[in-house]
Amino acid sequence: MDLVLDDNGPLYLQLARALKEAMAAGRLANGTRLPSSREMAYDLNLSRTTVVAAYEHLRAEGFITGRVGSGSYVTSPWAGPVRPPPPRRAVVAQSAFSRRTREFCTLGNIPGHRPPGMRYAFQFGTPVVNTALTAQWVRELTRAAPYVQPNYPRIQGLPALREAVSRHISRTRGVACTPDDVLIVGGTQQALSLIARVLLEDGDEVALEEPHYFTARTILQVHGARLVGIPVDRDGMQVERMPDPAVKLTYVTPSHQFPTGAVLSHERRLALLEYARLGSGWIVEDDYDGEFRHDQQPVQALQQLDRDGRVLYVGSFSKTLFPALRLGYIIMPPGLRDDLLAAKWTDDFGCASMDQAALAGFIASGAYDRHLRQVTRKLAERRNLLRSLLQEHCGDRLEIMESHSGMHLVAWIHDMPAAEGDALIRAAHERKLALYSIAPCYLQPPEGTGLIMGFSAMSPAELREAVPLFAKCLALFPRRAAGERGRPALYLARSSG
Ligand SMILES: Cc1ncc(COP(=O)(O)O)c(C=O)c1O
Repeated sequence: MDLVLDDNGPLYLQLARALKEAMAAGRLANGTRLPSSREMAYDLNLSRTTVVAAYEHLRAEGFITGRVGSGSYVTSPWAGPVRPPPPRRAVVAQSAFSRRTREFCTLGNIPGHRPPGMRYAFQFGTPVVNTALTAQWVRELTRAAPYVQPNYPRIQGLPALREAVSRHISRTRGVACTPDDVLIVGGTQQALSLIARVLLEDGDEVALEEPHYFTARTILQVHGARLVGIPVDRDGMQVERMPDPAVKLTYVTPSHQFPTGAVLSHERRLALLEYARLGSGWIVEDDYDGEFRHDQQPVQALQQLDRDGRVLYVGSFSKTLFPALRLGYIIMPPGLRDDLLAAKWTDDFGCASMDQAALAGFIASGAYDRHLRQVTRKLAERRNLLRSLLQEHCGDRLEIMESHSGMHLVAWIHDMPAAEGDALIRAAHERKLALYSIAPCYLQPPEGTGLIMGFSAMSPAELREAVPLFAKCLALFPRRAAGERGRPALYLARSSG
């Protein structure tokens, strides 16, 4: 301990004064355990009797509590928690990347965020609570642990996991790939960052659906992209409205458009591939929840139709397993393979080996398939329940968009302007019900009110309670008379520069 004795009077009083000074300066915070008298005597080269006398003196004055032998603790009137002096604020000279990150990144804006204190939340993107999965996952980690190499991981990902992923998505999503095409990444988030770094220069045009996954938009913006929103209708992104000259990159969710749920039609898929081919552009296919198909045959991946190596297929385990895993993959087109590997190298040398090994075991054993079947059944049940409850309690006030997969529905509220929609969300919040506006998914927010209604985070029993509460909140905002009605709320998306 850094104490200076002042050579003034008896040694025990010098030591008591030095300790009081340390308390006053905040170096000895309230609650701090003082070294034992033996340790203190050794450190300061004093006799133990001197230290015991100093501690007794401080105890008598109320600066410390406790007894010799059981520890002495600071209780001084001044000593707060020890806080190092704040570092001087350096002159800010950020990079362009950092300035854009500050501009576009809202750190609280995480998909599925549940505000504190809510009884019910129509969270989206949150996996179904599944205790069996937790137990299975612990088993896989335990099984994998003794075999995991402690050295740095392979940049491209564990061969066993690349093999398991390539087999799985070839079979279930029709993706054309071999294990050598797979790059294991830290979720879609890292996939998009790497792709943007490899492909984009400042100011390059990037097309994305309008509405779209707002996190993808943010990643593209912080990498300097100029975004062009392409409206979505019931057949997905309106590819015929893609800009001319062609954009460098298009981000699209063809199997289950986020958030509307539309499926990109076969004609538009072919048209988009042709557009990329002619313009030497690239397509990111985000297949985030294509596995959860409820009432139709699975829609195959766009990548399957790609004959020119222009599609970067991106998958994630965030929805099919859990987002805390932070694992996903890119199926790399041959032309970008080396660049993507180099980008991954500069980021982190590769994802954590232990989780990769556990995941490889989980997929290879067939447990992943079983888990997907179970979750899909549960999700279908909840989706049907939510749909029928909304119809029963909210009747013709809502237009629920057609969606055959995933974990949420989009419901538009007829004739409710966006400002009134915000008031509805606030009113629901006060009643401990969290609602989620579709507006953040737009470059140009719509004039009407749309809600993303997740059904994965609530049990059927909770859904049965949450929907009537939602209907009560909605009733606080009566429907407008025919003359006051605005335009229908659907597809108000506009193209934007
Ligand atoms: C459209 C879309 N893509 C991807 C993801 C998954 O992202 P990540 O893998 O970074 O967790 C989500 C999660 O909400 C999503 O909504």
